Amino acid sequence: MQREHTSLRIVDLKIEDIAFGGKGVARENGKAIFIPFTIEDETVSAEIVREKKKFAEAELVGVKESSPHRVTPECPYFGRCGGCTYQHINYEHQLAIKWRQVRDALQRIGKFRDVPMRPIIASLEQYGYRNRITVHAQDGVIGFFRRDSHRLIDIERCPISRDEVNRALTELREQPHVRDGHYTLRASSGARVFSQTNEAVANALCDLIVDLVPANQKLLIDAYCGAGFFAKALLDKFERIIGIDWDKFAIDAAKQEATAKETYIAGDMDLELASIELEERERTILIIDPPAVGLSLAVRNAIGDLAPATLIYVSCNPATLARDLKELRGKFTINSVTPLDMFPQTAEIEVVASASCQ
Ligand SMILES: C[S@@+](CC[C@H](N)C(=O)[O-])C[C@H]1O[C@@H](n2cnc3c(N)ncnc32)[C@H](O)[C@@H]1O
Repeated sequence: MQREHTSLRIVDLKIEDIAFGGKGVARENGKAIFIPFTIEDETVSAEIVREKKKFAEAELVGVKESSPHRVTPECPYFGRCGGCTYQHINYEHQLAIKWRQVRDALQRIGKFRDVPMRPIIASLEQYGYRNRITVHAQDGVIGFFRRDSHRLIDIERCPISRDEVNRALTELREQPHVRDGHYTLRASSGARVFSQTNEAVANALCDLIVDLVPANQKLLIDAYCGAGFFAKALLDKFERIIGIDWDKFAIDAAKQEATAKETYIAGDMDLELASIELEERERTILIIDPPAVGLSLAVRNAIGDLAPATLIYVSCNPATLARDLKELRGKFTINSVTPLDMFPQTAEIEVVASASCQ
């Protein structure tokens, strides 16, 4: 069992790297120490707050030698709120960190030596981009969870959210009695199913996928299709489209106004993907957009058996993307890897990898 204790030890540390999730990494006698809100090459003074056998965690006390990339955060809650991680880093450098983390994951976890990285697609809006947020209310406090905690922090305004979302937050806060619970506040009253949070980058993602798919294809399998965001944009290029998602509401939304060539199936990917039989493997494209946990063994096996000519993997987690592509490497060769910054100021990374069957 690992022992854990709190200490007041304050040390000076040189930040070497930024880990997944956004914490700076330093070393003390070879042991990794993770310190939030730091930037590589900075020298900081930090308090060790948790010491484990293999690593330690520290809180920033002061920056002794500052990075040229350090900027003043725009949000008064930054550092306390659990939402944003990178407001202290200028936007160009946030993009550089995310690009590097994708490449490193594919090299370290995926064991790919040469990763065909493309430039990262930036968000035009670095603040004010979120079209929805979920806030929590408890005992009169309305806001987000504190960093590393289940306690709430009272939030009046969220600067990464759009004005309409902040107006909805003000309206909620002005109500005389807000019941305890979760409230999703939206910029528009669109469909209640999975929809992309940063519309401009979502459109760039869609354009990228449209570009990656050649014309005159036989079959598109849009796995984890939600309400058919990709399928609907690719209609012109395919004779037939099959979308699969286990969210029945999303599938119902996809079926509304569907053309005769679209089929949407509400079911578990573990079962549904393996039951598809291909007529023309060479003109079949498979798009997979799984949740952060990535693909199960059953889905990876089904993909290997289907062996579509092109596999487009849309991922919100470079680590599981790298693991899955490593497992599929006997069958597919990666042609391009494009990171996208869907969530500026946070450590979230979106990636599109395109691969062809060998
Ligand atoms: C990242 S979202 C992708 C949504 C969609 N591609 C879009 O852009 O709107 C992941 C989707 O996977 C679905 N999902 C997660 N696990 C699943 C499973 N085992 N079988 C089927 N669908 C699953 C969720 O319902 C969700 O819609």
